[in-house]
Amino acid sequence: MTQVHICEVGPRDGLQNAKQLMPTGAKKAWIDALAAAGVTEIEVGSFVPPKLIPAMADTDEIVRHAIKIPGLKVVALAPNLKGFQRAVEAGAHKVTFPVSASYEHCVSNVRMTPDQMVEEVRKCAQFPHPGVEIEGAVATAFGCTLQGKVAEEEVARIAEALAKFCDAVALADTVGYANPAQVKRIFSLVKSRIGEKLEAAHFHNTRGLGLANALAAYEVGVRVFDSSMGGLGGCPFAPGASGNVITEDLVFMFESMGVSTGIDFPKLLAARELLVKGIPGEPIYGHTPLAGLPKGFRATA
Ligand code: COA
Ligand code: ZN
Repeated sequence: MTQVHICEVGPRDGLQNAKQLMPTGAKKAWIDALAAAGVTEIEVGSFVPPKLIPAMADTDEIVRHAIKIPGLKVVALAPNLKGFQRAVEAGAHKVTFPVSASYEHCVSNVRMTPDQMVEEVRKCAQFPHPGVEIEGAVATAFGCTLQGKVAEEEVARIAEALAKFCDAVALADTVGYANPAQVKRIFSLVKSRIGEKLEAAHFHNTRGLGLANALAAYEVGVRVFDSSMGGLGGCPFAPGASGNVITEDLVFMFESMGVSTGIDFPKLLAARELLVKGIPGEPIYGHTPLAGLPKGFRATA
């Protein structure tokens, strides 16, 4: 049993914001290598209009490939009922919906207000989806580059609405505004309203606080984390958004604390090589991969 669960979101959050397209074959090889490293959940793409995000045009094929990997939970993002239907048809195990607590980001991202987007997710929950989990991700939960401040009560209100029909709710710092004190406060607030339905933390490293925020969330009981290999990522509809918390450094942080992730570091580096090859020229970040593991380092059993 691992003590924290990491969902790799690079193939979706990472590639949607990359300057280049990763060829479909390279995506499949990268996903295979991530799974071989012990990553048991991967957000492999999104079912959005291909014209809007060309990097996600092959998500159907990618999902159909990934669901053949034994033991892997395959996640896809959907912004509406049409995307959800495509995800269910392709065989995704879990579908994540971005529901911004910022009115301005929500309209920019999905052309719906937060309340309209909650209703869209409710419609999806009512659509037959045997065996498919639904996650409502409260985006811009810690601030927004378009609107500025996002009221904590609004974050809690959206989370509570989603918890009524979603299997799980996540809080996302879409633009990297969060700080550790705020993370502890908002996760605790939402937990007090929706209890165990609050699952994942999704942080971006835009101001260098990704790991600090992940640790803060861990300290208030969060055990499920999204992260992106090489620190790729960012929402194209949130100005100034940049990469997610870096998977390699997140794994190192937890493993060096004695908190098991189930992920094998050398095999993770092998997957990173496929990422580098798959989008040559794209800046790929990560402190631990550059510095190497400390002498005598031992991963948790
Ligand atoms: N997948 C594929 N095509 C879709 C689609 C989906 N999920 N949703 C809508 N479309 C198609 C429609 O069929 C329509 O096609 P047509 O012009 O050939 O008739 C066209 O896209 C416009 O549909 P509409 O319902 O009017 O959508 P919209 O233009 O108002 O856009 C969203 C709304 C939600 C589809 C769009 O804003 C979106 O995909 N946002 C997500 C952005 C994103 O991925 N952000 C990063 C992740 S957080
Ligand atoms: Zn994100």
